[in-house]
Amino acid sequence: MNPIERVDRENIWHPFSPMAGNKPIAVKKAKGVYLHTYEGRKIMDAVSSWWVNVHGHSHPKVSKAISRQAAKMEHVIFAGFTHKPAVDLSKTLMKILPDPISKIFFSDNGSTSVEVAIKLAIQYWYNQGKARKKIIALEGAYHGDTFGSMSVAERNIFSAPFNDYLFEVEFIPFPSGNEQQSIAAMKRLVSDETAAFIFEPLVQGAAGMQMYDPEVLDQLLDIARQKEVVCIADEVMTGFGRTGKMFACDYLRNEPDIFCLSKGITGGYLPMGITAVSERIVQAFNVADRTKAFFHGHSYTANPLACAAANASMGLLMTKRRQLDIQRISEQHEAYLKNFNLTKGIKEIRQRGTILAIELEVSDAGYTSDIKERIYDFFMDRDLLLRPLGNVIYILPPYIISNAELKKLYTAIDDFLGTL
Ligand SMILES: Cc1ncc(COP(=O)(O)O)c(C=O)c1O
Repeated sequence: MNPIERVDRENIWHPFSPMAGNKPIAVKKAKGVYLHTYEGRKIMDAVSSWWVNVHGHSHPKVSKAISRQAAKMEHVIFAGFTHKPAVDLSKTLMKILPDPISKIFFSDNGSTSVEVAIKLAIQYWYNQGKARKKIIALEGAYHGDTFGSMSVAERNIFSAPFNDYLFEVEFIPFPSGNEQQSIAAMKRLVSDETAAFIFEPLVQGAAGMQMYDPEVLDQLLDIARQKEVVCIADEVMTGFGRTGKMFACDYLRNEPDIFCLSKGITGGYLPMGITAVSERIVQAFNVADRTKAFFHGHSYTANPLACAAANASMGLLMTKRRQLDIQRISEQHEAYLKNFNLTKGIKEIRQRGTILAIELEVSDAGYTSDIKERIYDFFMDRDLLLRPLGNVIYILPPYIISNAELKKLYTAIDDFLGTL
């Protein structure tokens, strides 16, 4: 065992793995789509390091932007002060988000972007003296690991020890295969007491890349809109091109009141959460009365290094070349699926833009499915990081992945399916 791994095992608490038996692989450097280990392995990162990486690892433009910014100003308080990297990022986001969005609020990660969104939605009604308390979410939802974000998500193994401490939320059936039930539940639940409706648009990532159509989401949003419910789109995973468009909500007729953004915003370099808010919500806070201010702020709000990374990453993302990459990956997935032989053991195949998912037929479906380790090991033996979501194998690659690298992934998946 190399010295790094030994110290790691003694002193570091890793997320998600049971503590006993956890064997992290020490990464020496990461470049492009590959993670290089101390043992000389070159592992293809086909899941964008928990869905954050966009342009490949250690991209020279983003790295340079961070180091230039670090030489000028590493971090300053963002209460009562501002800076150019934050202002530049706000300008870019205003250009690509729908028109009603008029302000962005900075925080640190996806979970906090959701916390802020929920708190804003609740305070929006509070500031107007209206008693709206109910929140509606989708079955199977995942919105993060903090208490608020856990509350608006499915109760499962992630939340089990904390369920008694989570606030109550009304869940509607996941709208795929159950469209009419989902719509009926929404009609039944939405009332003058509903504060907010939160959803992962078109793809529920952690649930196993579960997908549903824009048409049904639009119908759900229509119902919510009739009662002026605050609609919150959690685009933490789907944002920045993953679904083939800049945002999954770009497939919709309706425009949400609040967007939660994180992961890909900095290209996968530094943590940052953004809650983008529409003018309608902003207006309820735009008063001199201090009791109506939004008392929420993290120490590293609008960290200039993270903003510099985001500005460089957004610059790259908006180039014609990167947009063509997104299109190319989507087309490669489609071509693979067109010739895909439905072998035994497969429950469903799903694709939206650059995300491809294959759900296996198992008796213990879900995140803790026994087949998870077998899938992980099979691909890692081939130096492919395809970390499954339980019984769901998926590809969610950095956009610089080549067609030859995609082909390698498809072939390995075929090989694995052949073992079922
Ligand atoms: C849809 C969604 N929301 C929120 C989060 C939480 O983000 P973070 O892990 O950055 O707190 C995730 C993370 O996977 C996510 O997929």
